Amino acid sequence: MLVLYNFDEIIDRCNTGSFKWHYTDETIPLWVADMDFKAAQPILAAIEQVTQHGILGYTVPTEPLYQAIIDWHGSRYDLWLDQQDILFSPGVVPSLVLMMKVFTEVGDAVLINDPIYTPFMTKVLDNDRKLVTSALQEVEGRYHLDLVDIEAKIIEHKVKLYLFCNPHNPGGRVWTADELEALLFICKKHDVAIVSDEIHQDLTLSGHTFTPFLTLAKDYEHKVVNLTSMTKTFNIAGIKGSMIFAKDSGLLSKINQQQRLSDEHELNLFAYTAMRSAYEQGDEWLAQALTYIEANIDLTLQFLEEHLPKIKVMRPEASYLIWLDCSAYAQDDQMLYDKLRAAKVELSAGIKYGGEGHLKMRLNVACPKALLIEGLNRMQTALNSDVFNIVDSI
Ligand SMILES: Cc1ncc(COP(=O)(O)O)c(C=O)c1O
Repeated sequence: MLVLYNFDEIIDRCNTGSFKWHYTDETIPLWVADMDFKAAQPILAAIEQVTQHGILGYTVPTEPLYQAIIDWHGSRYDLWLDQQDILFSPGVVPSLVLMMKVFTEVGDAVLINDPIYTPFMTKVLDNDRKLVTSALQEVEGRYHLDLVDIEAKIIEHKVKLYLFCNPHNPGGRVWTADELEALLFICKKHDVAIVSDEIHQDLTLSGHTFTPFLTLAKDYEHKVVNLTSMTKTFNIAGIKGSMIFAKDSGLLSKINQQQRLSDEHELNLFAYTAMRSAYEQGDEWLAQALTYIEANIDLTLQFLEEHLPKIKVMRPEASYLIWLDCSAYAQDDQMLYDKLRAAKVELSAGIKYGGEGHLKMRLNVACPKALLIEGLNRMQTALNSDVFNIVDSI
């Protein structure tokens, strides 16, 4: 039966412990990658069924869960996994740390791009690895990999591991198979392991094709790992849970051994339940959510063109996050962020994603249209005015 979801519904999230809605005033949050949409009905029903059953004991992944994961990735992305290729992890960020332990030692160099989702930087540094960055090149409003720089940095720093993000956060690029092949060629040549964070895979927008890194790895499978999750796709990040995919048995057992050192190989009952129902029955919700998100992206681009024409916008190829170059409206990162906060709208400060994020902001449009329009109006007020109030720092 077709369920028509109402993404226009505004649901009060204040005082629920929401990380996104942390305010005591009327601020509109257009920052962290969390959507203001109710989750898919089959996921909510599956969780309800568990609570109705009333037994919340120790749980292990079941055959139907594995099958749901296999079918989703095979049918959508031609990534055909066997059950033994799939491991579970509490989150993609914990898996990034795990992979550093699998592929590197303290002091080894780890390569990332700039800009990049913040934990790529912080976790490398927190785990006493050497952080090496390669800036993405912006050409006609799209980021590109600088392959010459990447290879030079790999050689110079003896890089052991490349933490890669596909689709890219915050730039929204869905890297093409050709781009991935070129990267793979360089990594193979220098024996660099690749861990590809693909958490935004299912949010690929129309006109673009997502390619899982693992589908290209062939004779390099002992050095390639995909990380992904249902949490971003289905807006259930509060449940926590993710997957690790690899196709080499030696590598898989190494990862598994590392996980078992801290007993981090299991998810909880609600995560397994949500994951299975999402992959079995969530496609209808996802299709409708993506249609709504694309309309919000169009609306935002049109609004910015009319009212804040000096913002340079990077149209996302995946996700609901729009990368904005606001350099025409500010000279200072903190002032830019504060100016928007003073107008009661919060975006993510670009500088948090690396030096390339200087004077940029990341805008999340996955919310009811009415909230988005109000947020955009506040952005217009903030950036077109000279009034400036000091508020909380970033
Ligand atoms: C690229 C990327 N990786 C990982 C995460 C977080 O993953 P998790 O909550 O599973 O740790 C996010 C969240 O926004 C993200 O954008």
